[in-house]
Amino acid sequence: MLYSAIRKVMFQLDPEVIHDLTIKSLHLTGNSPLKGLYKQSLQEKPVDVMGIRFPNPVGLSAGLDKNGECIQAFSALGFGFVEIGTVTPRPQPGNPKPRIFRLEEANAVINRMGFNNKGVDYLVDQVRKADFKGVLGINIGKNKDTPEENAKDDYIHCMRKVYDHASYITVNISSPNTPGLRSLQYGEALNELLAALKEEQKTLAEKFGKYIPLAVKIAPDLTEEEVNGIAECLVQNNIDGVIATNTTLARDKVEHLLHGNEQGGLSGKPVKEQSTIVIKQLAKALDGKLPIIGVGGIHSAEDAKEKLEAGAALVQLYTGFIYEGPSLIKDIVDSL
Ligand code: FNR
Repeated sequence: MLYSAIRKVMFQLDPEVIHDLTIKSLHLTGNSPLKGLYKQSLQEKPVDVMGIRFPNPVGLSAGLDKNGECIQAFSALGFGFVEIGTVTPRPQPGNPKPRIFRLEEANAVINRMGFNNKGVDYLVDQVRKADFKGVLGINIGKNKDTPEENAKDDYIHCMRKVYDHASYITVNISSPNTPGLRSLQYGEALNELLAALKEEQKTLAEKFGKYIPLAVKIAPDLTEEEVNGIAECLVQNNIDGVIATNTTLARDKVEHLLHGNEQGGLSGKPVKEQSTIVIKQLAKALDGKLPIIGVGGIHSAEDAKEKLEAGAALVQLYTGFIYEGPSLIKDIVDSL
């Protein structure tokens, strides 16, 4: 009720302006008693995934807190885990504005942010300051101006920086807004990348005396054959988890709407079905060998259940959280 009133006001404003304002407010209040204003105490619904105990299976998806400035605030809202990033080795401004569009009639968003972020050193500093004891995922990517053939170096750079601060690390190879990134999802390019990251994980595990799982985040725009190829490569390289999915390039459900043909990745209700299809295909191909984190178009407890039934062990929210507000987390947790 209250959130729908707040949303009415927020949706009058430019999406990125309201995003920045929200992040600033959560950043300022997250480490203070003021977080009592939005804190939700939810039931414990613990699950063990990738060797980590999650207090509940509902997480914040990457991209909302790109710089890790609101970890405590998002945890106070009731998320069982918080994924920050995507972060790149060096700060970068992202694409020119406007670069985020609301498609209200479709309960959707199109974004072409392009990994705008303050760089991995800033993010690590924020994580240190947050002194967070919950489950923290750190999502890593490559700088726009790093040539595709050197992408691996960017991921390894970020891995080294974040390893000691993350509960798990997500390798994002599925943003549609960094040219060439998605080509890392296929064939030898994927195999080479994952083998190198796995090797680095081994070195870092010895150095820090702890094993931090690696998850790979994939796109919804894949054929079943491509999903099978990815699954095989994940298993071969002993990757610890897979996040499905990122935003879609498909426009069939929104092309008739205002902003429906903006460039970028589409998220929210229109991506739900396709991301569930990918989860089902993964579940079949992986046969329980590694866990799936389901994300894409979850706007209700029913939607979350659909992802879990399709084979996901955990779920994440982004667009649904923007449209429905914090009660969505509670609804899902209560329904489990
Ligand atoms: C995203 N998403 C995203 N994912 C990622 O791995 N790194 C990122 O930096 C971002 N950035 C980002 C910005 C914006 C504005 C949106 C809407 C989304 C993708 C997000 O985490 C999620 O995978 C998809 O949006 C699908 O889930 P929802 O939004 O339908 O719940």
